[in-house]
Amino acid sequence: MIVAVPKEVLPGENRVAATPASVKELIKSGLTVRIQSGAGSASFFSDDDYRSAGAEIIADVKALFSEADIVLKVAPPTQNPDVDGHEADAMKKGAVHVSFIQTTRELETVKKFVDNEITGFSMHLIPRTTLAQKMDALSSQANIGGYKAVLLGASHIAVYMPLLMTAAGTIPPAKVLVLGAGVAGLQAIATAKRLGAQVEAFDVRPVVKEQVESLGAKFIEVDPGSDEGVGEGGYAKETSEDYQRRQREMIKDHIAKANLVITTALIPGKPAPILIPKDMIDGMMPGSAIMDLASENGGNCELTKPGEVVTVNNVVIDGTTNIPATMPQHASQLYSKNVSSFITYFCKEGQLEINLEDEIISGAMFTHHGEVMDERTREALKN
Ligand code: NAI
Repeated sequence: MIVAVPKEVLPGENRVAATPASVKELIKSGLTVRIQSGAGSASFFSDDDYRSAGAEIIADVKALFSEADIVLKVAPPTQNPDVDGHEADAMKKGAVHVSFIQTTRELETVKKFVDNEITGFSMHLIPRTTLAQKMDALSSQANIGGYKAVLLGASHIAVYMPLLMTAAGTIPPAKVLVLGAGVAGLQAIATAKRLGAQVEAFDVRPVVKEQVESLGAKFIEVDPGSDEGVGEGGYAKETSEDYQRRQREMIKDHIAKANLVITTALIPGKPAPILIPKDMIDGMMPGSAIMDLASENGGNCELTKPGEVVTVNNVVIDGTTNIPATMPQHASQLYSKNVSSFITYFCKEGQLEINLEDEIISGAMFTHHGEVMDERTREALKN
């Protein structure tokens, strides 16, 4: 069985789906690994590093795609001039594909997978179970996003992050407000604390209060203990209008005092909730900044422009997308480990063992044998 790892073609996508270390793991489970020449260069892994790990280096991209039994990517399949068209059309019929594809959005690709009988797995869909923890790319990449957002945010604001006592006077610590305390939010809290800021955080799920407090931050609440925002599987769900109104009132007070706001609030399968409407920005301090990590899903701030950094009323609103790709070496190391853990879970001694009864395999699968296997994707195709 041949596993192929192409070079990512989307602008700014510096990650790669396999590193020399993950290549060794794939080979250990009986797979032959082919890497496109230069695939790891933006993550600082050379062709020689891959060759030493046992991979074949391939320059012919069409052959790389068409001869592979399994194609591993970071970004979803896309138009690629090196295959004279769409990557989904370049794969051989019945092949397996794994990437970070948001299937309810990439519907044209899903249709191509159905037509070409590709078995599609999305790293977005891997269940968040204990057994699948080492395959959880959402967490490994969100962690990087939360960390890097604080560093980028600290460079936008007009003040120091830590408390400083100097001969020229005492500098108070910056105030950081984190909205959404999931994986990215918790890492943002920890990073801002390490830089010496005073941190507050809010989430609709009261269960995170303890986690926020254990990191030394203050948890702010709309209704102490209310589980109004808790949905299926412990994830967030949309809240009532009344709750949202009270939430906005509360955030407004805290945001007016914050130097840096980091927003990470997401609801699975829905656009990101607007937590910072336009008028709230008028109340923010000049020289403050918002890092909107939800920008790819529309943003938590009404004025966020996905992929852009804008300044409104002297407040920087940073809507940079795909922040994990800006730290490609570690992002690739962790993502490729997530992917190789997944692949080696269903490839034993070089053979595919696709057990549809297995909850990790069936959870991550969205197309198989010409059928759409994921319920949400099926629904999205109907609309
Ligand atoms: P996410 O990226 O979907 O959402 C980020 C955060 O935004 C969540 O904490 C959510 O509650 C919050 N949020 C949504 N709407 C909001 C609103 N209107 N206002 C404020 N906050 C709002 O979530 P993520 O980070 O992917 O994971 C969320 C949770 O999933 C984790 O905290 C954990 O409980 C669970 N999880 C479990 C894992 C496991 O058991 N292996 C692994 C990873 C996560």
